[in-house]
Amino acid sequence: MKEAVLKKFGELYGDTQGVNVYFAPGRVNLIGEHTDYNGGHVFPCALTIGTYVAARKRADRKLTFYSMNFDRLGVVEGSLDDLTPAKEAEWTNYPKGVMWAFAGRGMEMDCGLDIVLYGNIPNGSGLSSSASLEVVTGYVLRDLYGFDVTNVDLAKIGQYSENNFNGMNCGIMDQFASAMGKKDNAIFLDTADLSYEYAPLVLDGAKIVVTNSNVKHSLVNSAYNERRSECEKALEELQTVVDIKGLGDLTEEQFEMHREAIKSEVRVKRAKHAVYENQRTIRAVAALKNNDLKLFGELMNASHVSLRDDYAVSCEEIDVLVEEAWKVDGVIGSRITGGGFGGCTVSIVRDEAVDAFQEKVGAAYKERVGRTADFYVVEIGDGPRKL
Ligand code: GLA
Repeated sequence: MKEAVLKKFGELYGDTQGVNVYFAPGRVNLIGEHTDYNGGHVFPCALTIGTYVAARKRADRKLTFYSMNFDRLGVVEGSLDDLTPAKEAEWTNYPKGVMWAFAGRGMEMDCGLDIVLYGNIPNGSGLSSSASLEVVTGYVLRDLYGFDVTNVDLAKIGQYSENNFNGMNCGIMDQFASAMGKKDNAIFLDTADLSYEYAPLVLDGAKIVVTNSNVKHSLVNSAYNERRSECEKALEELQTVVDIKGLGDLTEEQFEMHREAIKSEVRVKRAKHAVYENQRTIRAVAALKNNDLKLFGELMNASHVSLRDDYAVSCEEIDVLVEEAWKVDGVIGSRITGGGFGGCTVSIVRDEAVDAFQEKVGAAYKERVGRTADFYVVEIGDGPRKL
């Protein structure tokens, strides 16, 4: 990949003198879904796939962007003097948003940049290609302009830019997982205060299999933002009867005691998911520490049911993938992963069942949905770096 982006850079700009190449990973979340904007816990891990960027400073204030994933767009130009979101700027709104967010924190770039990018995260798969793009951009800016920021800052800046420049009110999980990834470890993050702990995830005799439904329903961002406001409203209602900062502060018992404060059935379900999912995540990590992979898998399955029935962020295609996965011998657990409405599932599958899993789930998906699913047996990789 490094060679490929460098080569492209050379083709576009004549030479590769002084060009650096950087990488930031995508992520898969094992459990803890839609908890990150509710002050709850998440348990994602960085992948070995992600976004590669070749970058070099310019003498003027121009910005040029080229994505090998969107060759049809050619070189997209911008300027440091106009860091505002624009529809026609397409994917470059992500790196521009990060530059804007740095500038807003007093870290202004004193010259422009040429960027050539290649991402090997399947587009729209819910494996955080945008977060990896934000994090790699922040990493480039830190390295080339000497900005004094930590990797946690890169995650915060990425999330801030996505919320305020790109209009997606995401939580911090994806950017954090990308910026703080560690090979063979998942990250147990408490989004209430960003305290975190790495949990070694060398699964003895099992693999993490990500299945791509290859569907992405429209209105994903608006449905996501809607869930988020439903939770905020439910929180306000609960705060009239109990002193909490986020839904993640409640145990299941406390939630059941106070749920009547929430004045709509839909919001009760949304809040219930957020509370129970957070507790499931805490239990799942404890189960993993006790080497109880079976319990971990059961909690993953319960997570899916809750996301499907109470949080309503699944869809038919994903439900088929998960149901079919549950039928296969050797599947420890399977659930939707990421924001929802399509994208991927994550499953933990015994080594000896991985082939059968792909065959059976793939065939059933084809038959029931009429589409082809893609399977990735993933490895947990490190965070962002210069290559
Ligand atoms: C998307 C968001 C994350 C998180 C997940 C759901 O990936 O970007 O912040 O909310 O959905 O868990």
